[in-house]
Amino acid sequence: MVQLKSAVAVGALLASTAYAVTPVAVHGSDFVNAVSGARFQMIGVAYQPGGSSGFNPGSGVDPLSDGSVCLRDAILMQRAGINTVRIYNLDPSIDHTQCMSIFNAAGIYLVLDVNSPLPNESLNRVAPWESYNEDYMKRVFQIVEAFKNFNNTLGFFAANEVINEDSVPATPQYIRAVTRDVKDYIAKHASRTIPVGYSAADVRPLLMDTFNYLGCDLANDTQSKMDFFGLNSYSWCGDATYTTSGYDVLVNDFADTAVPVFFSEYGCNNVKPRTFSEVPTIYSTPFSGVFSGGLVYEYSEEPNEYGLVVINSDGSVDLKVDYVNLIDQYNKIDLTALTAANGSATGRTAPSCGSIQMTSNLTNSFAVPARLSQIQDMIDNGVDGTFPKGFAQVTNTNEAATVKNPDGSTLTGLQLRILANDQSNLPGENTSGTNGTRNSTATGTNAPQSTNAATSFQVNFSTFVLGALALAFWAQL
Ligand SMILES: *[C@@H]1O[C@H](CO)[C@@H](O)[C@H](O)[C@H]1NC(C)=O
Ligand SMILES: *[C@@H]1O[C@H](CO)[C@@H](O)[C@H](O)[C@H]1NC(C)=O
Ligand SMILES: *[C@@H]1O[C@H](CO)[C@@H](O)[C@H](O)[C@H]1NC(C)=O
Ligand SMILES: *[C@@H]1O[C@H](CO)[C@@H](O)[C@H](O)[C@H]1NC(C)=O
Ligand SMILES: *[C@@H]1O[C@H](CO)[C@@H](O)[C@H](O)[C@H]1NC(C)=O
Ligand SMILES: *[C@@H]1O[C@H](CO)[C@@H](O)[C@H](O)[C@H]1NC(C)=O
Ligand SMILES: *[C@@H]1O[C@H](CO)[C@@H](O)[C@H](O)[C@H]1NC(C)=O
Ligand SMILES: *[C@@H]1O[C@H](CO)[C@@H](O)[C@H](O)[C@H]1NC(C)=O
Ligand SMILES: *[C@@H]1O[C@H](CO)[C@@H](O)[C@H](O)[C@H]1NC(C)=O
Repeated sequence: MVQLKSAVAVGALLASTAYAVTPVAVHGSDFVNAVSGARFQMIGVAYQPGGSSGFNPGSGVDPLSDGSVCLRDAILMQRAGINTVRIYNLDPSIDHTQCMSIFNAAGIYLVLDVNSPLPNESLNRVAPWESYNEDYMKRVFQIVEAFKNFNNTLGFFAANEVINEDSVPATPQYIRAVTRDVKDYIAKHASRTIPVGYSAADVRPLLMDTFNYLGCDLANDTQSKMDFFGLNSYSWCGDATYTTSGYDVLVNDFADTAVPVFFSEYGCNNVKPRTFSEVPTIYSTPFSGVFSGGLVYEYSEEPNEYGLVVINSDGSVDLKVDYVNLIDQYNKIDLTALTAANGSATGRTAPSCGSIQMTSNLTNSFAVPARLSQIQDMIDNGVDGTFPKGFAQVTNTNEAATVKNPDGSTLTGLQLRILANDQSNLPGENTSGTNGTRNSTATGTNAPQSTNAATSFQVNFSTFVLGALALAFWAQL
């Protein structure tokens, strides 16, 4: 059963008067702002400081556990123009209120994997029937509980790169089962619909089979259809083109998609430093007419050398040229075109599963595995644990870490810009620091901060506003 910590509950009450992004919803093949209806495209980055091997549950540390770390990185993402962050490995027993509140204040959404690499924390791609069990689904539901009350939770990945070979034809059935269970849990326990999708490796011919299988409409099991599809794509390297990268093939393949499709990872690093010359293509037609943006792999430099920044052991940050290059590319995006919805895309409905022709050895059976009674019980009654109820106020906006440009100069004037209600971040807006502005108009140094200030992040719990609005918000929980 869900229990409340009183301090966290205070944060929830504050939230109704605090700054917040508006939830993102799925509308046909577009993501849209759930209130204004404007189209939303991801300008994003994968975020896993410490790398995938850095996940150590029980240590009390994950990418969203330390407010001062999140503040440092959210400032650098905000000035770059990022509006979405993907995080792979999270510990649902940690209270992520501070970090979620900071990213929210920065206008940044999060798309979160419900899995981890640990045993019983993801589907086993070669024996999914073994891993689809009560212990696994308990962890999955705990992740949903840990993030469902934050408006900047954009969606959950029910699975990541589980179908990488077709030696196990039944695997897609289990992904549909997990998707169904997560969607049913959200429908029962969250106050809004949170999209649930899949993140695929770029492996042919499995890619389109996977997409078609997971995205089709099943009359007797409507909840097992994915809400969005992420593709991990590394086919544009160096100064590739629309055709040499195969992006033209992707646009053709996904042209009629009935769910939002985006790059859940991109950014080939065969040629270094990366210039991200694919960015203008991703965010203009015809590509943006089909795809909803993408997430650069990845924020921090790890052994595989995909980082935008180097995080040093003392917590200071060295910006790589890749980070500067990415900003230059983001600044070329036509922001108005980005939010214009495509009428033919928002009206689409999914094809019937009966019409799907598989080209690989993956199953074409749509007998989605039945749910164990223990899983049904968690969906009915909730899952054990203590979970946050909503945002806390962000009061500290100063960059405490030392941040250096690629030439070794120190970047000053860095600060979190707390956005007004219903705003999300975009390139060139809300930048801070001596180098962060869009096309040299302003220097953005309104409030230069000491880069060495030993300030630590604080959440302000001292204000206890029991307004009518807060009570209404409380009552609906
Ligand atoms: C979440 O977004 C909805 C829709 O904009 C808004 O009504 C609600 O107050 C927001 N909740 C919080 C906690 O910010
Ligand atoms: C995984 O879960 C199953 C069933 O819930 C349980 O029997 C098994 O011991 C778990 N394995 C590990 C390594 O925790
Ligand atoms: C709208 O969608 C159609 C069909 O996918 C596509 O041909 C067209 O280019 C899109 N238009 C825009 C403006 O994105
Ligand atoms: C399907 O599996 C069979 C038997 O393992 C194999 O011979 C065949 O090449 C596979 N087909 C595809 C399209 O992978
Ligand atoms: C639902 O329909 C599919 C496709 O017709 C079928 O394979 C499956 O057995 C059905 N499931 C149930 C529970 O009836
Ligand atoms: C701005 O960024 C460039 C590229 O990293 C760097 O060479 C330059 O020193 C920076 N200028 C200032 C004033 O920070
Ligand atoms: C963020 O950028 C938007 C668009 O330029 C602007 O209206 C808003 O005032 C900025 N907010 C802050 C806190 O800088
Ligand atoms: C700023 O934009 C103008 C007009 O689009 C362009 O001529 C100029 O080169 C740009 N400056 C920089 C520094 O990007
Ligand atoms: C917390 O909020 C109260 C009331 O708004 C304010 O007086 C106080 O200065 C704030 N504390 C911090 C640390 O921001």
